[in-house]
Amino acid sequence: MTHRSFIKEIRRFTFLLTGFFGSIIILIICVLLFNNGAFDTPSSYDSIDSYAGGIYTQNYDVATLDDSEESLVIKYGHELFVNTPKYIGPNNSKLNMAYAGNSLSCNNCHLSAGTKPFSAPLIGIIQRFPQFRGRENKIGTIEERINGCMERSMNGRKMPEQSKEMNAIVRYLSWISRYSPADGNIEGKGFLKIIIPDREVNLSHGATVFRKICSECHGFDGQGLKDKGSFVYTYPPLWGEGSFNNGAGMTRVITAAQFIKGNMPFGVTYLNPQLTDDQAFDVAGYISQQARPVKKNLEEDFPNLVKKPVSTGYPPYADPFSTEQHQVGPFLEIIAYYLKTYEVKKTK
Ligand code: HEC
Ligand code: HEC
Repeated sequence: MTHRSFIKEIRRFTFLLTGFFGSIIILIICVLLFNNGAFDTPSSYDSIDSYAGGIYTQNYDVATLDDSEESLVIKYGHELFVNTPKYIGPNNSKLNMAYAGNSLSCNNCHLSAGTKPFSAPLIGIIQRFPQFRGRENKIGTIEERINGCMERSMNGRKMPEQSKEMNAIVRYLSWISRYSPADGNIEGKGFLKIIIPDREVNLSHGATVFRKICSECHGFDGQGLKDKGSFVYTYPPLWGEGSFNNGAGMTRVITAAQFIKGNMPFGVTYLNPQLTDDQAFDVAGYISQQARPVKKNLEEDFPNLVKKPVSTGYPPYADPFSTEQHQVGPFLEIIAYYLKTYEVKKTK
């Protein structure tokens, strides 16, 4: 072997070697990425199934029910849930039944008729009640909790607990809760957690996110879209007279940011969120600063003020921070205050 061809052989060998180890390194990187979920395909029901122990893949389609008396009540409850204003909205045909003050549907916030993970799903809700409620500082029933959303999210008044409508909604919620564990504690309950940025809401960034991403459906004026002759919104309003009032959970920046992160723009799920935590936080802050109906007697909420969520936008508070800081942050120092002063660990 000549000296030159020997060098050539060595070069070829090193080349092959680098190629070999190079591929192994690439392979290792791929395996790591894969295990971290970088290649997960979003929104397949299989992944929700394995994640949530199957609870979301059960049959929640009321169309599969027969026409027995019981089934008809459940179907009416579902109708009330997804077409709420048609039956109990301000413009329905029976004005004595105008319990809701706006034309939102329960389904606008509890998506997929209350069966979508991280959209405050109501699967298991029947087992979760009666429950201790901080806002009233007492044990509350499911009927009282529904009326909580009636008076705030729906900007309306209480539905009588004995009414046909209340009964039908509760029967529907019982039906979607029929496979839930005894304590009603299901995966995907509530909203997707976000890392709360340690800063004030950036309102101009929130406005930019709103214009770029949300206005396509909710409108530049945030008033949504309702077709002529339709009771329900195609896209619900986010503020203004037709929206939820300032006592609603959705006006709290942390709650809204979590809802938005896991559900908006419409079509995203917890598996494929599109907004960063910062975007969700800022756009939630932007929305909550807009004008909306004002609920009376809000100062009576949370008789035990220590239980008040930190981003509740109305006083009084059990801490020295300003109302403004409770509206737009920074929230982490308020959370730290409750831990230090009351040994209460707040998450919202
Ligand atoms: C504007 C949005 C919105 C609308 C509309 C709405 N809700 Fe809610 N609802 C919420 C939010 C947000 C929460 C969670 C509040 C919290 O974190 O304290 C909630 C909580 C609930 C709960 C308790 C859930 C749990 O896991 O403890 C029930 C029950 C409920 N809503 C029923 C209804 C019904 C029935 C309707 C229609 C009549 C309705 N909601 C309309 C936003 C809404
Ligand atoms: C592709 C259309 C679309 C886009 C884009 C979109 N939304 Fe929505 N949004 C909807 C629909 C539809 C609903 C009601 C869901 C239902 O009834 O199933 C909704 C509901 C909501 C709700 C709860 C109901 C209410 O009246 O407040 C909020 C809050 C919300 N969207 C915020 C946002 C924000 C913030 C963005 C931008 C980051 C956004 N949405 C982008 C279609 C959209």
